[in-house]
Amino acid sequence: MTTTPSASQPSWWQQAAVYQVYLRSFQDTDGDGIGDLEGLRRRLPYLAGLGVDTLWLSPVHPSPDVDFGYDVADYTAVHPAFGGVADLERVVTEARAAGLRVILDGVFNHTSDQHPWFQQSVSDPDGPFGDFYLWRDGDRPPNNWGSTFGGPAWRHVPERGQWVLHSFAPEQPDLNWRSPAVVEAVLDSMRFWLERGVSGFRLDVFNCYLKDPGLRDNPRRKDLIGLLGGLAYRFIGQEHVYDRDHPDLAAVLGRMRALADTHDAVLVGETLDERLTYDNAAQWVGPDRLHLAFHFRLLHSRWGARPFAEAIRSWTESLGPDGWPTWVLSNHDFPRAATRWGGRDDRARLAAFLACTLRGTPFLYQGDELGMREGRLERAEIVDPPGRRFWPFYRGRDGARTPMQWEAGPGAGFTTGTPWLPVHPDHVTRNVAAQQDDSRSLLCFWRRALAARRSCPDLLHGVQGTVETPDGELVRFRRGDTDILVNLGDAPVRLRMPRADERPVRLATHGRLDRTVEGVRLRTCEGLALGPLPA
Ligand code: GLC
Repeated sequence: MTTTPSASQPSWWQQAAVYQVYLRSFQDTDGDGIGDLEGLRRRLPYLAGLGVDTLWLSPVHPSPDVDFGYDVADYTAVHPAFGGVADLERVVTEARAAGLRVILDGVFNHTSDQHPWFQQSVSDPDGPFGDFYLWRDGDRPPNNWGSTFGGPAWRHVPERGQWVLHSFAPEQPDLNWRSPAVVEAVLDSMRFWLERGVSGFRLDVFNCYLKDPGLRDNPRRKDLIGLLGGLAYRFIGQEHVYDRDHPDLAAVLGRMRALADTHDAVLVGETLDERLTYDNAAQWVGPDRLHLAFHFRLLHSRWGARPFAEAIRSWTESLGPDGWPTWVLSNHDFPRAATRWGGRDDRARLAAFLACTLRGTPFLYQGDELGMREGRLERAEIVDPPGRRFWPFYRGRDGARTPMQWEAGPGAGFTTGTPWLPVHPDHVTRNVAAQQDDSRSLLCFWRRALAARRSCPDLLHGVQGTVETPDGELVRFRRGDTDILVNLGDAPVRLRMPRADERPVRLATHGRLDRTVEGVRLRTCEGLALGPLPA
C-alpha cells in the first residue's frame, strides 16, 4: 500500500516530529491546578527550541472529565478550564509563526453522555439524533461485549427504555457510525477546526468506529491471558472479532481522508489492540485512508535487542517499503518510558536516539524529553476510571499524567495552585531549568537528535535497510548511506568497520567516541549514526 508520494519529496507529516501536549498537565496560568491554552502559548518558544514541529493536543473540548477530556460534550468548543475558541486560534496562529503545526485529538468513537446529541437521542428516539448511538431493546444486555474499562459494554437507559453501547466508561456512549448523519456531523466538526488552521487529527481508537452490524457475541479467548484475565476483566477474555476493525471502516476513513487532504492535514489513527501486537494497524494506512497509524509494539517491548528489532520489523514489514511508520515511546495511556525501561537515563537517551534515527515520524510525549518518571499515587489520589476500578492490580494512567516539571520550586513551575495530580517528587532535580543549559542532559540530547534528523536527508527519509541483531545486544540498520548502531546492552560491543574513525558522525549518544581505523567499540547504551566515508 503506497503512502509515500516519493522518497525524495517527503510530505510535511513524514518530516514532522510530533510532541504530545497533555494540556491538563502542561502549564497552568490561572492557578486552578489545570493546564491551559495560555500556558501552552507561553511555552511555544520552549517547544520550538526543542526542535519538534507539530503539536498534538490531547482533547481540548468541553467535557465532564469522566475520562479527562476523552468524553467530549461539544466538538466545536473549548473546555472552559483551558480557555475559549479564540485562545485556541491564537495558539494555532502563534505556533505557526514559530514553525509549529497543531493537530487536535479527534475523539469520535464515542461522545460524553452530556453531549447534546446523546441527550436528544435519549429524549427523542424518533428525532434527528435518535439513531446517533447504538440502541437496542431487551431484558438483558444485547450481547457479551466487554468495556475496555471493565464490566459489560452496555448500559440501560431507563428514560429511553433501551440499552446503549459504551466501549469505554458508561458515560462514553459509542456513536453509531452506520448512520450517515453521524458521519456528516463528525466531518462537520473536523471541518470547523480545519478552517481555523488546525493541521489534522489524532483519531482516538479509530478502529472501533464500525462494529458488526448484527452485534454478534465475541468468541471467548482461549489462551491463558484470556482465560485467567477474563475472569475479572471481560474485555480481555474475548477475541475482538465483532467490535473492532470492521471492513466497512475503510469507507469512513476514505471520507475523512478526502476532507483532510483538501486542507493539507494529517490523520493519525490510534489503533486499539488488546493483544499488543498491532498487526491490525497497517491495513488502515494508505492513500484512501489514514496517513499514519500508531503501532505500540515497540512501546510495549521488553528492553533488549531482539524484542526491539522484532517490534521494528513487524511494523515496517506490515506497512511495506512505501509505508511510513510512526515511532511512539510513550503517551498518556501507558507508564512513562523511562520507568518502564528500568528507570535509567542512559536507556531513555538511547530510546530517543532510536526514535530519531528510525525511518518514520517520531512522537514525543511531554516530559519524556526530561526522562520524567511514572508518578506513584496513593489510592485516594487516583482519578483515572480504570485505575479506580482495578486498583491495586492496575493503578491506572495517572502516573503518566503528572504535571510537567519546569523547575524545582513548589508546583514545579506548572502551577501556583494545587495541581490536579501530584507533582512527581523528583521535580526538584529533574526539570527543564536544570537541564536546558546542561549539554549532557537528556533534554539537550533530544534537541541534538531532532536537529540531526531534520538536517540529515538520510535520517529524514533515507531508505531503511534490514534491522539486524548480529551480536549481543546490538541492533544495526542502515538509513540510506548512514549506518545506525545501537547497543542496548550493558556489555561493550566491538564492530569491525574499515576507517570507522574517518566517517562523519550524524548523531551520537556519547561524547568521546571509541573508534579506530579498524572499527568501533560501543559502550553501555551507546548509539552511533555514522555517515559514509568522504569521497
Ligand atoms: C484512547 C485514549 C484514552 C481514552 C480512550 C477512550 O485510548 O488515548 O486516553 O481513555 O481512548 O477515549
